[in-house]
Amino acid sequence: MSAKISVIVNGEKYDVPGVEPRLLLSDFLRDTLGLTGTHVGCEHGVCGACTVLVNGDSVRSCLMFAIQVDGSEITTVEGLGTPEELNVLQAQFREHHGLQCGFCTPGMLMTGEDLLRKYPLATDEDIREGLSGNLCRCTGYQNIVAAIRSAATKRSEKAS
Ligand code: FES
Ligand code: FES
Repeated sequence: MSAKISVIVNGEKYDVPGVEPRLLLSDFLRDTLGLTGTHVGCEHGVCGACTVLVNGDSVRSCLMFAIQVDGSEITTVEGLGTPEELNVLQAQFREHHGLQCGFCTPGMLMTGEDLLRKYPLATDEDIREGLSGNLCRCTGYQNIVAAIRSAATKRSEKAS
C-alpha cells in the first residue's frame, strides 16, 4: 500500500503521495524529486556514493526506504552550494583536484561535510577513518584528504 510522505530536502518542503513502501531513498531522491546529484553505485551499502544527510547524519540512501524518512530533513549534494557559489568543501575539492571521474564525489562531499560539522578540527587520521566507507577507484584518496583538511582549516579561520 503506497503512502504519502512529507520531507524537507535542501530546505524545500515536499509532500509526495503514492510512495511505494519498497522505494529506496536513493531512487526517491533521483527519480521522484529529480535530484540526480546523489549517485548510485553498488546499491547495497558498500561504496558510499549515495551518501546524503538525514537530520544531520550521513546515511547511505540505497539502504533506506523513502518512507523511513517521512518527517525528516535531508541534505543532498545539491544543497551544499551552487555552481556559482560552491561551499567551502566543494571549493577545496576543486582547488586540490579531489576528483577524477567524479562518480564518488557527491558521497565524498556529504561524508566530508558530516565529518567537518561534527569534528571541525579533524586530523588526517580522522579524515581517512571518516572516508573509509567511501570507495574511490581513481584518485588514491590523497587529494580528497587534502581537500577536506584544507576545508577544515578554512572553516576554522572563518569561525575565529
Ligand atoms: S550505492 Fe549506496 S552504498 Fe553504494
Ligand atoms: S573520482 Fe572516480 S571513483 Fe572517485
